[in-house]
Amino acid sequence: MSERLVVIGSQWGDEGKGKITDYFACRADMVVRYQGGNNAGHTVAFDGNKYSLQSIPSGVFNPRTVNVMGNGMVVNPESVVAELQKLHDRGITDYQLYISDRAAMVMPWHSALDGAYESQKGGALIGTTKKGIGPTYSDKYARIGLRMGDLLEPEYFAERLRAALEVKNMELEMLGLPKYGFQEVYDRYMELAAILGPRICDTSALINEAIREPGKKILFEGAQGMMLCCDHGTYPFVTSSSPSSSGVCVGAGVAPKWVDNVLGVAKAYCTRVGSGPFPTELHDEIAHEIRERGHEYGTVTGRPRRVGWFDAVVARYTGMLAGIDNWALMLFDVLSGLDKIKICTAYECDGEVLTAPPSTISRLEKCKPVFIEMEGWKEDITGVRDFEELPEAAKAYVRKIEELTEIPVGIVSVGPDRTQTITLSESLRRF
Ligand code: GDP
Ligand code: IMO
Ligand code: MG
Repeated sequence: MSERLVVIGSQWGDEGKGKITDYFACRADMVVRYQGGNNAGHTVAFDGNKYSLQSIPSGVFNPRTVNVMGNGMVVNPESVVAELQKLHDRGITDYQLYISDRAAMVMPWHSALDGAYESQKGGALIGTTKKGIGPTYSDKYARIGLRMGDLLEPEYFAERLRAALEVKNMELEMLGLPKYGFQEVYDRYMELAAILGPRICDTSALINEAIREPGKKILFEGAQGMMLCCDHGTYPFVTSSSPSSSGVCVGAGVAPKWVDNVLGVAKAYCTRVGSGPFPTELHDEIAHEIRERGHEYGTVTGRPRRVGWFDAVVARYTGMLAGIDNWALMLFDVLSGLDKIKICTAYECDGEVLTAPPSTISRLEKCKPVFIEMEGWKEDITGVRDFEELPEAAKAYVRKIEELTEIPVGIVSVGPDRTQTITLSESLRRF
């Protein structure tokens, strides 16, 4: 039987999922994205080069690895073609990539609607990536969306497109946005179909075939993070999919029994891009220091990321919801040089002590973090490859996170490069 590993973001995204996926992809037979779309920005760094991937799985740099964009994703064919072109321009031409015929397709009006919905929100702006993610998922569940497989049947695609345009043009007109003509969209999407068509197939069949094969290694690459989950995150300041391990089942077409090894990617501190509550957020000089040292600017939008201390309330919550077996503790090197480092262990809200995030924003915004303070360390740790060689204070910080979350730290990352990775967990070392 195969071995599976699910890599998920456990905070508000940008935890370093791209790095970790690429690290394992060198050994994985298959890498599967199962939710989200080109709102993701996954950075992969090796051999002195840095790449940013939006919707293409991070296994694309290993020619042996089969990369799959699963049915739970929202796929923008225009942006996939542009992303592939960018990879080609940088010499990445030898890869395997398949796209689910059931994946929801982002249409040109979706990003326009994303922007329009945002501008109507006034002060309650989500700060989306404006890639049309929410509107595409809405249309999927309203059952008026188009899917990637439709591109393989031009007549059926034309029929679905006409039906969608009837509804969407009315909505666009109401919002004062330009309408779309059938022919221009049809022609462009047929051009895109000519390029991507050979990659579109029943990917669940492909994945399940690999699952049954002895010795195969399959990695599921989550996008975003658990606190941006539409069900469990800081709703409504969330994305429109389920970045959790449970998203794998629906989003890749995989039965729950195969989701059994979950790696929660967590920064050694916290960041958030876009609006919404962030209990441990810092507004002082330390935030500035961490932001600059960690290059905390959005991969997709370039926006400065908000920075805060590690939140063990969030970690326990996401650890429970996603069944996290190990943490990959990322950007640990960024904390070097700080005198003291804080960890949030609980929230105080209206005189009550909370050990899990409340469901409403109004209550979460009132939460004050309860901190413990840990000693910092001064040493540069970017060259360390053995856990025992880390400064004592750094080791104590890792052990404290394990103690507070009751989940072992399986990986400590001390730099963006593939090689700057310390693997503590025996099972992860074997994967
Ligand atoms: P993702 O969306 O979860 O894949 O994360 P992003 O790629 O958006 O953001 C993570 C950033 O941190 C990228 O710029 C990575 O190159 C970088 N990174 C990842 N791990 C480390 C690390 O251990 N140390 C440092 N300094 N940077 C890291
Ligand atoms: P990766 O995979 C960080 C945030 C946006 C916004 C909210 C909704 O790189 O970790 P959307 O466009 O999805 O409707 O925006 O979610 N967001 C992310 N933040 N990392 C991401 O992806 C994100 N994808 C979406 O900033 O607050
Ligand atoms: Mg990112």
